Amino acid sequence: MRTEIIKLLKKEGKLSEDAIDEIKKVDILDFSSIVQEIGKQETEYIKSSEISKELNTEYIGQNIFVYNEVSSTNTVAKFLSMNEIDNGTVIISEKQTNARGRSGKAWESPLGGVWLSIILNPNVDHSKLPLITLATGVAVAKTLEKLGVENPEIKWPNDIMINGKKVCGILTEAVAKFNTIENVIIGVGIDANLNVEDFPEELQVGTTTLKEELGRTGNENLLIKTFLEEFEIISELFNQGGYEEILKEWRKRSYTIGKIVEVRTPFNKYYDGYVVGIGKEGALIVEKIDGTLEKVISGECIIKN
Ligand code: BTN
Repeated sequence: MRTEIIKLLKKEGKLSEDAIDEIKKVDILDFSSIVQEIGKQETEYIKSSEISKELNTEYIGQNIFVYNEVSSTNTVAKFLSMNEIDNGTVIISEKQTNARGRSGKAWESPLGGVWLSIILNPNVDHSKLPLITLATGVAVAKTLEKLGVENPEIKWPNDIMINGKKVCGILTEAVAKFNTIENVIIGVGIDANLNVEDFPEELQVGTTTLKEELGRTGNENLLIKTFLEEFEIISELFNQGGYEEILKEWRKRSYTIGKIVEVRTPFNKYYDGYVVGIGKEGALIVEKIDGTLEKVISGECIIKN
């Protein structure tokens, strides 16, 4: 039974919610190894052999799992991180059927995008989580710069923008144990080889893609390889406590500082203000209309000018 299910899933390279439920029924303890086995292959566009060729990292992406389709790479990464798994393991899928964005929103993930999650074991407390997200934004921006994008910017906290439109989103999720973070799952979605029309109409206005910005189809594997290298560099800086340096890189590319914004906190508190800067823990510093300063740690920030 187990062998048959693996054979079938391997053939399809898919890990839907239903498939996950089926695997769990067979043997929960073996779950992780089955998921890993299915991910050890190449898909039409994503080739781990190409990503790994001359990949200049110590641990990020040294272990890669690739799927044709999963519900969410963050979900698969979370499952895998419950068992022993190498720090820096990467989960990639050509498509996602139930991907998550920030603030409980769904994330569109059609074929042609780069949808991946990194499992990190950073050994830090919760207060450092926003900085990991900001650092990831810097790594994506530097990757795009290397691939020829002029002036990618970062909209707080983690949207990567080109010419004022979003090209990438980042969702950081912690697998916590008491007050220490056991693992951090960093989910990155880049609208790579897509057209804006591939997205539902309501998303098209503020969205762009690498293909449209660069005027050509790019190589997803090169994009992933470059990102993994940039990510390891910044992740090492983070591990060595180079928070100021990370913030400096973030500020250089900020799309948000100096703008009038509407802040929407997770508790449905809305207010307008002027973005003065970003604090050392990664919070946005907003000057409200009454002149008081507010630190925004989480929530949405809508640019008004
Ligand atoms: C955002 O709302 O801007 C964050 C989007 C994060 C999407 C990525 S795609 C890979 C990973 N898997 C998910 O389900 N979400 C993240």
